[in-house]
Amino acid sequence: MRRGEAVILATMGVVVVGLMARNIISLRTATQPDPGIPFFSTADPVLARRAGDLYRENNCRGCHALWTLKSALESVPAPALDGIGSLRDERWFYEYFSAANPQGILPSRLKPEYRMPSLARLPEEDRRTLARYMASLKVKDWYLASVRAAEYEKLTGKEYSEIHGDK
Ligand code: HEC
Repeated sequence: MRRGEAVILATMGVVVVGLMARNIISLRTATQPDPGIPFFSTADPVLARRAGDLYRENNCRGCHALWTLKSALESVPAPALDGIGSLRDERWFYEYFSAANPQGILPSRLKPEYRMPSLARLPEEDRRTLARYMASLKVKDWYLASVRAAEYEKLTGKEYSEIHGDK
């Protein structure tokens, strides 16, 4: 075998081994289980139904996305509520919904007509139901950072990574 041939053969060998390695790696990642939908609720069916009614009656959907559903006619850049119960707790939600001026708790960057309305006029029981339901809206740990970044961006209009360096 001449020297030139040996070099060519060696090169081909390296390429073949490289391709095999790549295939094995991609096969591995392909067989990793699909992580699935990261959002879930811990609410029991009674709470879910009662809160769902309130959510509809008060047109929360006009501004917020939940379970990726949002009214197509509205385009208010309000935070999505999926996973929000992993960022805040029931007491916070209750106080927020009971505030005469919710922007005193969570400042808004939006025009007044797009801001979170006060729910203080709702009966206490309804505010408690909504708060309990919001607190039940969880996100799996592997997606928590994305939810936090998305919420931050909706609230401030700034990119989370610009401020925090990392997602
Ligand atoms: C007119 C639009 C609008 C409606 C209707 C509305 N919201 Fe909001 N909501 C907002 C906006 C915008 C924010 C972000 C704060 C702000 O800009 O005032 C917000 C904030 C929130 C937050 C805090 C989110 C966070 O990032 O912590 C919760 C929880 C919430 N809303 C729940 C509800 C529920 C429940 C209803 C229905 C009873 C509702 N909202 C109705 C616009 C709305």
